[in-house]
Amino acid sequence: MGGFPGSFEGVDLAALAAREGTPLYVYSAPAIRSRIRALRGALAGLDAGIRYAVKANGNLAVLRLLAAEGAGADIVSGGELMRALHAGIAPEAIVFSGVGKTDAEIDTALAVGIGRFNIESRAELDALQRLAAARGTVAVAAVRINPDVDARTHAKISTGKAENKFGVPMDEARAWFEAAADRPNVRLDGLHMHIGSQLLSLDPVREALRRMAAFWRALEAAGHAITSIDVGGGLGVRYRDGEVAPDANEYADAIREALAGFTGRLLVEPGRWLVAEAGLLLTRVVLEKQGRERRFLMLDAGMNDLLRPSLYDAWHDIVRVGDTAGRDRVAYDVVGPVCETGDTFARQREMPRCAAGDLVAILGAGAYGASMASTYNARPLAAEVLVEEGRYAVIRQRQTFDAMIAGERPADDWRTA
Ligand code: LLP
Repeated sequence: MGGFPGSFEGVDLAALAAREGTPLYVYSAPAIRSRIRALRGALAGLDAGIRYAVKANGNLAVLRLLAAEGAGADIVSGGELMRALHAGIAPEAIVFSGVGKTDAEIDTALAVGIGRFNIESRAELDALQRLAAARGTVAVAAVRINPDVDARTHAKISTGKAENKFGVPMDEARAWFEAAADRPNVRLDGLHMHIGSQLLSLDPVREALRRMAAFWRALEAAGHAITSIDVGGGLGVRYRDGEVAPDANEYADAIREALAGFTGRLLVEPGRWLVAEAGLLLTRVVLEKQGRERRFLMLDAGMNDLLRPSLYDAWHDIVRVGDTAGRDRVAYDVVGPVCETGDTFARQREMPRCAAGDLVAILGAGAYGASMASTYNARPLAAEVLVEEGRYAVIRQRQTFDAMIAGERPADDWRTA
């Protein structure tokens, strides 16, 4: 890709960077809204609820925006529970997924009365029974099935193969339903799956749905009522030219087809699809450097701000903001300032020639960008803004040094445990 227009949703990016500094996450509110509306439209006619996967982008303003469009939340930690509640999401619209929930997390979720637990192990099921009984309540739960399907995505984000830590085999799940009477404080009446993320082909989804549907029918035939099926998230997006992301309607049709005849409630847990393409990471060129073999474009954003390229070799389009007319094209290794060779956003990427001070946008950064950021190298967490109709709102201020070190103490108070 070449040059990127100088504005985003009518907000001048150079002016924005001058005011708010860089690196800066910029999210388009209309783009997020149009995605969730498209998904809702695709699911029309089904009794389906959207449970946004908070992990993709848990900023409270983003959560509020999605909640205003009717989304609930899919959470995987006590922290995400608090985020969802703070954003005003009703506890009933929260589903708690996750493979290693602690007693404390389960107990808090019970205390606030979340809608559903997605259970991934026998130990977790027992813990839920014990904790719900102690509270004198009945927890509503689904079992996360591991359908043993290859999602054909990056190995680090593939979750539905038998070798992965996620979910339980159907045989084990069946035994849980059969022994339901042993766990009077758990109403196990749902099925859940999530086979992986950034799925560009719907075929593995269809196959997993087919397996889950067969299991649902077998359970019903054996007298176990299934009132909820959660098909997980995973819908992929287009990060680069040539990639074709599945369409929401095709996805909904796959669900309709596989689960035809199911009259209970359907849940979907998309994260990335709703927010990835709505966001960019605005960063400034610190310097250009000609190495012996390669030319480096050094940005003021690093792997601590956007980890995906380092962790998954993920591709993100990187564009120079503003007019690029007349600039020759150069192949850059686009890197950050962090002291690791892995702090590389792109290798030998052809771009218009850039100079120190230029603004560059890393696209497709709305999902798993800010939410995976760290303060490695003592770099403050980037600010985040939402843009819409020529205006912007700061939805997370740039982390101050004081905020970064808050909680750290000199070792002057020695105690015995
Ligand atoms: N539900 C469950 C149970 C999940 O584990 C996930 C994502 C989702 C829903 C949402 O998946 P999505 O619709 O966003 O694909 N950090 C990685 C992605 C990890 C996804 C983990 N689980 C990345 O940057 O590509």
